[in-house]
Amino acid sequence: MESTMLSPQDALASLIWQIELGATETIGDAPVNRYELPEKTAKPVAVPKAAERPVAHAAPPATADPVAAARAAAAAAVDLEALRAALGAYPHCDLRRGARNLVFSDGNPAARVMIIGEAPGRDEDMQGKPFVGRAGQLLDRMLAAIGLMRGASAPQEAVYITNVLPWRPPQNRDPEPAEIAMMRPFVARHVALVNPAVIVLMGNISCEAGLGRHGITRLRGQWAEAYGKPALPMFHPADLLRTPAAKREAWADLLALKA
Ligand code: URA
Repeated sequence: MESTMLSPQDALASLIWQIELGATETIGDAPVNRYELPEKTAKPVAVPKAAERPVAHAAPPATADPVAAARAAAAAAVDLEALRAALGAYPHCDLRRGARNLVFSDGNPAARVMIIGEAPGRDEDMQGKPFVGRAGQLLDRMLAAIGLMRGASAPQEAVYITNVLPWRPPQNRDPEPAEIAMMRPFVARHVALVNPAVIVLMGNISCEAGLGRHGITRLRGQWAEAYGKPALPMFHPADLLRTPAAKREAWADLLALKA
């Protein structure tokens, strides 16, 4: 009979495949027949007294308006740390429940250029930093080509990077309009606190949040205004990984940004 043992390489490939599909937890080695559990093995569970019960994420009242609550929380944030804390305490976006980390920002807050991406992916969720995966590495190379770097201390050589959504959507699905709407006040406050000279809107979701429009192929390269700042829509680096031919337009946009 043929062996069903996977080679280490196949096992690794299978694991990577499952992670890409969105699996986020490992389970036990041995199968569990859950139909048997209730009567045979379940022990009586002691109900803790009210004072001992853990305080779960309080479910927001059903009548609360998530966008109004976001506006109030964002407006009350007096600096970037307060804004990060306000996002961390914001209960209305369900994406937070599936995410490992809140991904707030990276780079120099004194930068003249602020980049607004879409949402964290798997690598960003794991590291708690925006644009650290393959798309992020391409973004760093694109920025370096025009003399910009997220780690630079001089504001004219630096960039500051954030996303519309601070939590990874499951299976990297597109954010829903309601999720974008409730995060928009936080993004607007983020821009106001950083006060960059210009913004780059990376990809469709970022254009949707900042301009109320999408269609990046038409929007890219056309300066517009978002969050009260001059804003340049650009192809998302993930688009460039999928469609390398679009790098020509991206290069033209980078030169416009540099100018
Ligand atoms: N794509 C984004 O838009 N943001 C990230 O942080 C990573 C990938």
